[in-house]
Amino acid sequence: MEVGVLGGGTMGSGIVQVAAQNGHKTILVDLNETVLDQSKSKLAKIMARLVEKGKISQDQSYATQANIVYSKDVNDFASCGIVIEAIVEDINVKSKVFSNLESIVSSECILASNTSSLSIASIGSSVSNSSRVIGIHFFNPAPLMPLVEIIPAVQTSEKTLVAAKSLIDAWGKVTVVCKDTPGFIVNRVARPFYGEAMRIYEEGVADFATIDWAMTEIGGFRMGPFTLMDYIGNDVNYTVTETVFTAFYFDPRYKPSFTQKRHAEAGYFGRKSGRGFFDYREGAVNPSPNEDQIVGKQIFERILVMLINEAVDALFLNIGTKEAIDLAMTKGVNYPKGLLLWADQLGLAFVLATLEALFSEYGEDRYRPSPLLRRMVKSGDTFFG
Ligand code: NAI
Repeated sequence: MEVGVLGGGTMGSGIVQVAAQNGHKTILVDLNETVLDQSKSKLAKIMARLVEKGKISQDQSYATQANIVYSKDVNDFASCGIVIEAIVEDINVKSKVFSNLESIVSSECILASNTSSLSIASIGSSVSNSSRVIGIHFFNPAPLMPLVEIIPAVQTSEKTLVAAKSLIDAWGKVTVVCKDTPGFIVNRVARPFYGEAMRIYEEGVADFATIDWAMTEIGGFRMGPFTLMDYIGNDVNYTVTETVFTAFYFDPRYKPSFTQKRHAEAGYFGRKSGRGFFDYREGAVNPSPNEDQIVGKQIFERILVMLINEAVDALFLNIGTKEAIDLAMTKGVNYPKGLLLWADQLGLAFVLATLEALFSEYGEDRYRPSPLLRRMVKSGDTFFG
Protein backbone atom coordinates (compact mmCIF):
# COMPACT_ATOMS: atom_id res chain seq x y z
CA MET A 1 0.00 0.00 0.00
CA GLU A 2 1.19 3.50 -0.81
CA VAL A 3 1.43 5.88 2.12
CA GLY A 4 1.08 9.64 1.83
CA VAL A 5 2.49 12.08 4.38
CA LEU A 6 1.53 15.73 4.20
CA GLY A 7 4.00 18.15 5.81
CA GLY A 8 7.73 17.44 5.90
CA GLY A 9 8.65 19.17 9.15
CA THR A 10 9.76 17.55 12.39
CA MET A 11 6.94 15.01 12.58
CA GLY A 12 6.25 14.43 8.89
CA SER A 13 9.90 13.59 8.20
CA GLY A 14 9.93 11.06 11.02
CA ILE A 15 6.67 9.43 9.93
CA VAL A 16 7.94 9.15 6.34
CA GLN A 17 11.04 7.36 7.60
CA VAL A 18 8.93 4.87 9.59
CA ALA A 19 6.63 4.13 6.64
CA ALA A 20 9.49 3.78 4.14
CA GLN A 21 11.50 1.56 6.50
CA ASN A 22 8.46 -0.69 6.62
CA GLY A 23 8.59 -1.17 2.88
CA HIS A 24 5.87 1.22 1.73
CA LYS A 25 6.21 3.43 -1.27
CA THR A 26 5.82 6.73 0.59
CA ILE A 27 4.98 10.12 -0.86
CA LEU A 28 6.00 13.17 1.13
CA VAL A 29 4.30 16.37 0.12
CA ASP A 30 5.22 19.80 1.46
CA LEU A 31 4.52 23.22 -0.06
CA ASN A 32 8.05 24.29 0.70
CA GLU A 33 10.83 23.00 -1.58
CA THR A 34 13.54 23.75 1.02
CA VAL A 35 11.70 21.65 3.61
CA LEU A 36 11.64 18.73 1.16
CA ASP A 37 15.36 19.07 0.47
CA GLN A 38 16.13 19.27 4.18
CA SER A 39 13.96 16.25 4.93
CA LYS A 40 15.74 14.24 2.24
CA SER A 41 19.25 15.14 3.36
CA LYS A 42 18.38 14.63 7.03
CA LEU A 43 17.15 11.12 6.25
CA ALA A 44 20.30 10.34 4.25
CA LYS A 45 22.38 11.32 7.31
CA ILE A 46 20.23 9.24 9.68
CA MET A 47 20.47 6.21 7.38
CA ALA A 48 24.25 6.59 7.07
CA ARG A 49 24.57 6.70 10.85
CA LEU A 50 22.38 3.57 11.22
CA VAL A 51 24.57 1.74 8.67
CA GLU A 52 27.71 2.88 10.48
CA LYS A 53 26.36 1.58 13.80
CA GLY A 54 25.49 -1.74 12.15
CA LYS A 55 21.76 -1.27 12.89
CA ILE A 56 20.77 -1.61 9.23
CA SER A 57 22.54 -2.80 6.07
CA GLN A 58 23.60 -0.59 3.18
CA ASP A 59 20.90 -2.27 1.08
CA GLN A 60 18.23 -1.46 3.65
CA SER A 61 19.39 2.13 3.69
CA TYR A 62 19.13 2.38 -0.11
CA ALA A 63 15.76 0.60 -0.14
CA THR A 64 14.28 2.94 2.48
CA GLN A 65 15.45 6.05 0.65
CA ALA A 66 14.33 4.67 -2.72
CA ASN A 67 10.84 4.12 -1.28
CA ILE A 68 10.30 7.86 -0.84
CA VAL A 69 8.97 10.29 -3.40
CA TYR A 70 9.36 13.98 -2.50
CA SER A 71 6.75 16.22 -4.05
CA LYS A 72 5.09 19.62 -3.87
CA ASP A 73 1.90 18.34 -5.47
CA VAL A 74 -0.90 16.82 -3.34
CA ASN A 75 -2.31 15.20 -6.50
CA ASP A 76 0.53 12.67 -6.11
CA PHE A 77 -1.51 11.16 -3.24
CA ALA A 78 -4.07 9.82 -5.78
CA SER A 79 -3.14 6.15 -5.34
CA CYS A 80 -2.42 6.19 -1.58
CA GLY A 81 -4.24 3.85 0.81
CA ILE A 82 -3.64 6.25 3.69
CA VAL A 83 -2.58 9.87 4.01
CA ILE A 84 -1.18 11.09 7.33
CA GLU A 85 -1.28 14.85 7.75
CA ALA A 86 1.44 16.59 9.82
CA ILE A 87 1.15 20.26 8.88
CA VAL A 88 0.70 23.39 11.00
CA GLU A 89 -1.53 23.03 14.08
CA ASP A 90 -4.38 25.22 12.84
CA ILE A 91 -7.93 23.95 12.45
CA ASN A 92 -8.74 26.27 9.54
CA VAL A 93 -5.71 25.17 7.54
CA LYS A 94 -6.26 21.48 8.38
CA SER A 95 -9.96 21.67 7.41
CA LYS A 96 -9.16 23.15 4.00
CA VAL A 97 -6.45 20.58 3.41
CA PHE A 98 -8.66 17.60 4.36
CA SER A 99 -11.48 18.79 2.16
CA ASN A 100 -9.05 19.08 -0.76
CA LEU A 101 -7.49 15.67 -0.01
CA GLU A 102 -10.90 14.02 -0.28
CA SER A 103 -11.21 15.21 -3.85
CA ILE A 104 -7.84 13.63 -4.76
CA VAL A 105 -7.72 10.22 -3.07
CA SER A 106 -9.90 7.13 -3.62
CA SER A 107 -13.02 6.56 -1.52
CA GLU A 108 -11.17 3.80 0.37
CA CYS A 109 -8.24 5.96 1.44
CA ILE A 110 -7.90 6.62 5.19
CA LEU A 111 -7.33 10.27 6.08
CA ALA A 112 -5.36 10.63 9.31
CA SER A 113 -4.14 13.60 11.32
CA ASN A 114 -1.11 13.71 13.60
CA THR A 115 -2.60 16.66 15.53
CA SER A 116 -1.59 16.97 19.21
CA SER A 117 -4.40 19.16 20.37
CA LEU A 118 -7.19 19.60 17.84
CA SER A 119 -10.36 17.51 17.90
CA ILE A 120 -10.52 14.73 15.34
CA ALA A 121 -14.29 15.27 15.10
CA SER A 122 -13.76 18.85 13.95
CA ILE A 123 -11.14 17.80 11.38
CA GLY A 124 -13.48 15.01 10.20
CA SER A 125 -16.35 17.42 9.74
CA SER A 126 -14.48 19.07 6.86
CA VAL A 127 -14.87 16.02 4.59
CA SER A 128 -18.11 14.46 3.35
CA ASN A 129 -17.18 10.87 4.23
CA SER A 130 -15.89 11.50 7.75
CA SER A 131 -16.04 7.77 8.67
CA ARG A 132 -12.55 7.42 7.19
CA VAL A 133 -10.96 10.21 9.23
CA ILE A 134 -8.94 9.25 12.33
CA GLY A 135 -6.22 10.60 14.61
CA ILE A 136 -2.83 8.88 14.45
CA HIS A 137 -0.64 10.68 16.98
CA PHE A 138 3.08 9.92 16.86
CA PHE A 139 5.60 11.17 19.44
CA ASN A 140 8.77 13.05 18.69
CA PRO A 141 11.09 11.65 17.34
CA ALA A 142 8.64 9.37 15.48
CA PRO A 143 11.20 6.71 14.42
CA LEU A 144 12.41 6.29 18.02
CA MET A 145 9.37 6.69 20.24
CA PRO A 146 7.40 3.44 20.32
CA LEU A 147 4.00 4.91 21.23
CA VAL A 148 1.30 5.95 18.76
CA GLU A 149 -2.11 7.11 20.00
CA ILE A 150 -4.98 6.06 17.73
CA ILE A 151 -7.96 8.37 18.08
CA PRO A 152 -11.29 7.52 16.48
CA ALA A 153 -13.71 10.46 16.38
CA VAL A 154 -17.46 10.07 16.87
CA GLN A 155 -17.77 9.80 13.07
CA THR A 156 -14.94 7.26 12.53
CA SER A 157 -16.01 3.77 11.38
CA GLU A 158 -14.87 0.58 13.07
CA LYS A 159 -13.36 -0.44 9.72
CA THR A 160 -11.15 2.67 9.68
CA LEU A 161 -10.12 2.12 13.30
CA VAL A 162 -9.18 -1.52 12.74
CA ALA A 163 -7.28 -0.78 9.50
CA ALA A 164 -5.37 2.18 10.96
CA LYS A 165 -4.45 0.34 14.15
CA SER A 166 -3.30 -2.81 12.32
CA LEU A 167 -1.14 -0.78 9.96
CA ILE A 168 0.64 1.07 12.78
CA ASP A 169 0.97 -2.15 14.80
CA ALA A 170 2.58 -3.77 11.74
CA TRP A 171 5.12 -0.92 11.74
CA GLY A 172 6.27 -2.24 15.13
CA LYS A 173 4.74 0.60 17.12
CA VAL A 174 2.87 0.28 20.41
CA THR A 175 -0.63 1.56 19.74
CA VAL A 176 -3.19 2.72 22.28
CA VAL A 177 -6.72 3.66 21.37
CA CYS A 178 -7.98 6.79 23.09
CA LYS A 179 -11.06 8.94 23.19
CA ASP A 180 -11.14 12.12 21.15
CA THR A 181 -10.69 14.46 24.14
CA PRO A 182 -8.11 17.23 24.79
CA GLY A 183 -4.55 15.94 25.10
CA PHE A 184 -5.69 12.36 24.34
CA ILE A 185 -3.93 10.20 26.98
CA VAL A 186 -0.31 11.35 27.23
CA ASN A 187 -0.68 15.12 27.00
CA ARG A 188 -3.53 15.01 29.50
CA VAL A 189 -2.11 12.63 32.10
CA ALA A 190 1.36 14.26 32.02
CA ARG A 191 0.15 17.78 32.92
CA PRO A 192 0.88 17.53 36.69
CA PHE A 193 4.48 16.50 36.01
CA TYR A 194 5.03 20.11 34.95
CA GLY A 195 2.21 21.92 36.74
CA GLU A 196 2.71 20.51 40.23
CA ALA A 197 6.50 20.89 39.94
CA MET A 198 6.07 24.59 39.16
CA ARG A 199 3.55 25.00 41.96
CA ILE A 200 6.03 23.47 44.44
CA TYR A 201 8.68 25.91 43.19
CA GLU A 202 6.30 28.88 43.41
CA GLU A 203 5.51 28.05 47.04
CA GLY A 204 9.22 28.21 47.79
CA VAL A 205 9.46 24.57 48.88
CA ALA A 206 12.47 23.94 46.62
CA ASP A 207 14.36 25.28 43.63
CA PHE A 208 14.39 23.85 40.09
CA ALA A 209 17.50 21.73 40.65
CA THR A 210 16.15 20.17 43.86
CA ILE A 211 12.78 19.30 42.33
CA ASP A 212 14.51 17.73 39.32
CA TRP A 213 16.81 15.80 41.63
CA ALA A 214 13.82 14.47 43.63
CA MET A 215 12.06 13.25 40.49
CA THR A 216 15.10 11.59 38.93
CA GLU A 217 17.03 10.27 41.92
CA ILE A 218 14.13 9.38 44.23
CA GLY A 219 11.39 8.93 41.62
CA GLY A 220 13.41 7.23 38.89
CA PHE A 221 12.14 9.50 36.09
CA ARG A 222 14.61 9.85 33.24
CA MET A 223 14.48 13.66 33.30
CA GLY A 224 13.30 16.12 35.91
CA PRO A 225 10.35 18.38 35.04
CA PHE A 226 12.41 21.55 34.61
CA THR A 227 15.08 19.88 32.49
CA LEU A 228 12.30 18.34 30.40
CA MET A 229 10.46 21.66 29.97
CA ASP A 230 13.74 23.25 28.88
CA TYR A 231 14.20 20.41 26.41
CA ILE A 232 10.66 20.67 24.98
CA GLY A 233 10.83 24.48 24.99
CA ASN A 234 8.94 26.63 27.48
CA ASP A 235 7.04 28.35 24.68
CA VAL A 236 5.82 25.03 23.25
CA ASN A 237 5.09 23.40 26.62
CA TYR A 238 3.25 26.51 27.88
CA THR A 239 1.07 26.58 24.75
CA VAL A 240 0.15 22.90 25.15
CA THR A 241 -0.82 23.53 28.79
CA GLU A 242 -2.88 26.58 27.89
CA THR A 243 -4.61 24.70 25.05
CA VAL A 244 -5.51 21.77 27.31
CA PHE A 245 -6.72 24.17 30.05
CA THR A 246 -8.96 26.07 27.61
CA ALA A 247 -10.22 22.88 26.00
CA PHE A 248 -11.26 21.53 29.43
CA TYR A 249 -13.44 24.60 30.00
CA PHE A 250 -10.88 26.00 32.44
CA ASP A 251 -10.81 23.07 34.85
CA PRO A 252 -8.43 24.40 37.58
CA ARG A 253 -6.57 21.10 37.53
CA TYR A 254 -4.92 22.12 34.25
CA LYS A 255 -4.23 25.77 35.14
CA PRO A 256 -1.03 27.03 33.46
CA SER A 257 1.73 28.52 35.56
CA PHE A 258 2.98 32.12 35.67
CA THR A 259 6.45 30.78 36.29
CA GLN A 260 6.50 29.15 32.87
CA LYS A 261 4.67 32.01 31.20
CA ARG A 262 7.22 34.56 32.43
CA HIS A 263 10.11 32.36 31.33
CA ALA A 264 8.57 32.03 27.85
CA GLU A 265 7.87 35.80 27.71
CA ALA A 266 11.47 36.51 28.66
CA GLY A 267 12.67 34.36 25.80
CA TYR A 268 13.98 31.75 28.25
CA PHE A 269 12.72 28.92 26.05
CA GLY A 270 15.23 26.37 27.24
CA ARG A 271 18.01 24.56 25.41
CA LYS A 272 17.17 26.08 22.05
CA SER A 273 17.65 29.66 23.32
CA GLY A 274 20.59 28.84 25.58
CA ARG A 275 18.61 29.61 28.69
CA GLY A 276 15.46 28.34 30.35
CA PHE A 277 14.97 27.26 33.94
CA PHE A 278 18.64 26.35 33.70
CA ASP A 279 21.48 28.13 31.94
CA TYR A 280 22.94 26.27 28.94
CA ARG A 281 25.40 28.94 27.82
CA GLU A 282 29.06 28.11 27.55
CA GLY A 283 30.69 28.05 30.98
CA ALA A 284 27.43 28.59 32.88
CA VAL A 285 27.29 27.20 36.40
CA ASN A 286 23.90 25.92 37.53
CA PRO A 287 22.88 25.57 41.18
CA SER A 288 23.25 22.19 42.84
CA PRO A 289 20.23 20.47 44.38
CA ASN A 290 19.63 20.36 48.09
CA GLU A 291 19.74 16.61 48.56
CA ASP A 292 17.57 16.42 51.68
CA GLN A 293 15.90 12.99 51.48
CA ILE A 294 12.82 13.99 53.51
CA VAL A 295 12.05 17.07 51.40
CA GLY A 296 12.88 15.12 48.23
CA LYS A 297 10.46 12.34 49.10
CA GLN A 298 7.70 14.85 49.86
CA ILE A 299 8.22 16.55 46.49
CA PHE A 300 8.29 13.28 44.57
CA GLU A 301 5.17 11.90 46.29
CA ARG A 302 3.20 15.10 45.79
CA ILE A 303 3.88 15.11 42.04
CA LEU A 304 3.37 11.34 41.74
CA VAL A 305 -0.04 11.29 43.46
CA MET A 306 -1.16 14.14 41.19
CA LEU A 307 -0.06 12.13 38.14
CA ILE A 308 -1.78 9.00 39.46
CA ASN A 309 -4.98 10.95 40.11
CA GLU A 310 -4.94 12.17 36.52
CA ALA A 311 -4.40 8.62 35.21
CA VAL A 312 -7.20 7.25 37.42
CA ASP A 313 -9.54 10.00 36.27
CA ALA A 314 -8.70 9.25 32.61
CA LEU A 315 -9.69 5.64 33.29
CA PHE A 316 -12.83 6.79 35.15
CA LEU A 317 -13.86 8.80 32.08
CA ASN A 318 -12.98 5.98 29.63
CA ILE A 319 -10.26 7.93 27.81
CA GLY A 320 -8.50 4.58 27.42
CA THR A 321 -8.28 1.16 29.08
CA LYS A 322 -6.08 0.70 32.14
CA GLU A 323 -3.53 -1.11 29.97
CA ALA A 324 -3.61 1.72 27.38
CA ILE A 325 -3.14 4.41 30.03
CA ASP A 326 -0.12 2.66 31.57
CA LEU A 327 1.45 1.83 28.18
CA ALA A 328 0.95 5.39 26.98
CA MET A 329 3.05 6.84 29.79
CA THR A 330 5.85 4.26 29.65
CA LYS A 331 6.12 4.12 25.85
CA GLY A 332 5.22 7.73 24.98
CA VAL A 333 7.09 9.68 27.66
CA ASN A 334 9.40 7.05 29.18
CA TYR A 335 7.89 6.99 32.68
CA PRO A 336 9.69 4.35 34.76
CA LYS A 337 6.38 2.61 35.54
CA GLY A 338 2.76 2.81 34.46
CA LEU A 339 0.93 5.16 36.84
CA LEU A 340 -1.90 2.74 37.65
CA LEU A 341 0.56 -0.06 38.46
CA TRP A 342 2.51 2.46 40.53
CA ALA A 343 -0.71 3.31 42.39
CA ASP A 344 -1.24 -0.38 43.22
CA GLN A 345 2.31 -0.66 44.53
CA LEU A 346 2.12 2.55 46.55
CA GLY A 347 -1.29 1.58 47.92
CA LEU A 348 -4.45 3.28 46.75
CA ALA A 349 -5.34 4.29 50.31
CA PHE A 350 -2.02 6.16 50.60
CA VAL A 351 -2.60 7.94 47.26
CA LEU A 352 -6.10 8.98 48.34
CA ALA A 353 -4.95 10.11 51.79
CA THR A 354 -2.14 12.22 50.29
CA LEU A 355 -4.53 13.88 47.84
CA GLU A 356 -7.11 14.48 50.55
CA ALA A 357 -4.48 16.11 52.76
CA LEU A 358 -3.54 18.45 49.90
CA PHE A 359 -7.20 19.12 49.13
CA SER A 360 -8.02 20.00 52.72
CA GLU A 361 -4.88 22.12 53.17
CA TYR A 362 -5.34 24.17 49.97
CA GLY A 363 -9.10 23.96 49.45
CA GLU A 364 -8.37 23.97 45.72
CA ASP A 365 -10.21 21.94 43.14
CA ARG A 366 -6.95 20.88 41.48
CA TYR A 367 -6.38 18.42 44.34
CA ARG A 368 -9.83 16.76 44.17
CA PRO A 369 -9.42 12.98 44.14
CA SER A 370 -11.02 11.08 41.27
CA PRO A 371 -14.29 9.40 42.24
CA LEU A 372 -12.85 6.13 40.91
CA LEU A 373 -9.98 6.34 43.39
CA ARG A 374 -12.43 6.77 46.29
CA ARG A 375 -14.56 3.92 45.00
CA MET A 376 -11.59 1.57 44.74
CA VAL A 377 -10.25 2.39 48.18
CA LYS A 378 -13.71 1.69 49.59
CA SER A 379 -14.00 -1.66 47.83
CA GLY A 380 -10.35 -2.62 48.42
CA ASP A 381 -9.77 -3.25 44.68
CA THR A 382 -6.52 -2.74 42.81
CA PHE A 383 -5.97 -2.01 39.11
CA PHE A 384 -3.91 -5.04 38.22
CA GLY A 385 -4.83 -7.51 40.96
P1 NAI B 1 6.62 21.65 11.54
O1 NAI B 1 6.38 23.10 11.61
O2 NAI B 1 7.98 21.12 11.85
O3 NAI B 1 6.20 21.11 10.09
C1 NAI B 1 5.02 21.46 9.44
C2 NAI B 1 5.28 21.38 7.93
O4 NAI B 1 4.04 21.49 7.23
C3 NAI B 1 6.16 22.52 7.38
O5 NAI B 1 7.26 21.93 6.72
C4 NAI B 1 5.27 23.29 6.42
O6 NAI B 1 5.98 23.72 5.27
C5 NAI B 1 4.26 22.24 6.04
N1 NAI B 1 2.95 22.76 5.62
C6 NAI B 1 2.21 23.72 6.21
N2 NAI B 1 1.04 23.88 5.55
C7 NAI B 1 1.04 22.97 4.54
C8 NAI B 1 0.12 22.62 3.51
N3 NAI B 1 -1.04 23.23 3.42
N4 NAI B 1 0.46 21.65 2.66
C9 NAI B 1 1.65 21.01 2.75
N5 NAI B 1 2.57 21.29 3.70
C10 NAI B 1 2.26 22.27 4.58
O7 NAI B 1 5.52 21.00 12.51
P2 NAI B 1 5.59 19.64 13.36
O8 NAI B 1 6.21 19.91 14.67
O9 NAI B 1 6.12 18.56 12.50
O10 NAI B 1 4.03 19.38 13.65
C11 NAI B 1 3.15 18.94 12.66
C12 NAI B 1 1.89 18.40 13.30
O11 NAI B 1 2.24 17.34 14.22
C13 NAI B 1 1.11 19.41 14.13
O12 NAI B 1 -0.26 19.12 14.00
C14 NAI B 1 1.59 19.12 15.55
O13 NAI B 1 0.64 19.48 16.52
C15 NAI B 1 1.76 17.62 15.51
N6 NAI B 1 2.70 17.05 16.47
C16 NAI B 1 3.90 17.65 16.76
C17 NAI B 1 4.79 17.07 17.66
C18 NAI B 1 6.12 17.69 17.96
O14 NAI B 1 6.75 17.30 18.96
N7 NAI B 1 6.61 18.62 17.15
C19 NAI B 1 4.46 15.80 18.36
C20 NAI B 1 3.22 15.18 17.90
C21 NAI B 1 2.37 15.83 17.02
